[in-house]
Amino acid sequence: MIENTDFTAIRREYSLKILDEKNVAKNPFIQFSIWMEETIKSGIIDPSAMILATAGSSGIPSLRTVLLKSMEADGLVFFTNYESRKAKELDENPNASILFLWKELERQIRISGRVIKVSHEQSEEYFHSRPYESQLGAWASEQSKIISGREYLNNRFNEFKEKFNNEEIPLPPFWGGYKLLPGSFEFWQGRESRLHDRIIYSNKNGEWKINRLAP
Ligand SMILES: Cc1cc2nc3c(=O)[nH]c(=O)nc-3n(C[C@H](O)[C@H](O)[C@H](O)COP(=O)(O)O)c2cc1C
Repeated sequence: MIENTDFTAIRREYSLKILDEKNVAKNPFIQFSIWMEETIKSGIIDPSAMILATAGSSGIPSLRTVLLKSMEADGLVFFTNYESRKAKELDENPNASILFLWKELERQIRISGRVIKVSHEQSEEYFHSRPYESQLGAWASEQSKIISGREYLNNRFNEFKEKFNNEEIPLPPFWGGYKLLPGSFEFWQGRESRLHDRIIYSNKNGEWKINRLAP
């Protein structure tokens, strides 16, 4: 029998750093870059992993991890299957949020905005930069579909391996990038006594407004 389990004893204080609205960058993309650089330097694994939240027309949210592949002047780019659950939800509702949790640095960043597809050329360029096996994997995986078992997946992988026969693999028509165009960024820095720092940037008519939120 499963018994109730109590996790209330798992707690810690946060005291590594502070975040002050007087010292943050005026542009949240720059603030994001500063934190991302510090995260990469800290050596934690998967620094570019982010949780992507979407909700289709049902309004029911769904989340999954994806990897940030680039930050551009207007948005954050990730790549995926255009027939996956997330893609279907984004077709129905382009509003999405992403979240980075960097526990080791006692930091979290939440970014919300609208998602658009990147150009075919950009998807193609990134696709061809991936390892050969990952390119085959993209062809083999009908992402988010129910499949009969591992064997089915392995067989499809081998079929595409034979088909492409060490030649250049074309970009699958169902695969590519998305760019989240942020309307807001929230930076969270853990502090003592749960009085954390939360700095939010909101885009109002092209200008970034900076405010502090209660923790
Ligand atoms: C660390 C990590 C990185 C991932 N990166 C990606 C990614 O960049 N693109 C992607 O499509 N799925 C990625 N995945 C898998 C997704 O979390 C998810 O299982 C998949 O995209 C299907 O999601 P969906 O059914 O909601 O569309 C990653 C998973 C983990 C744990």
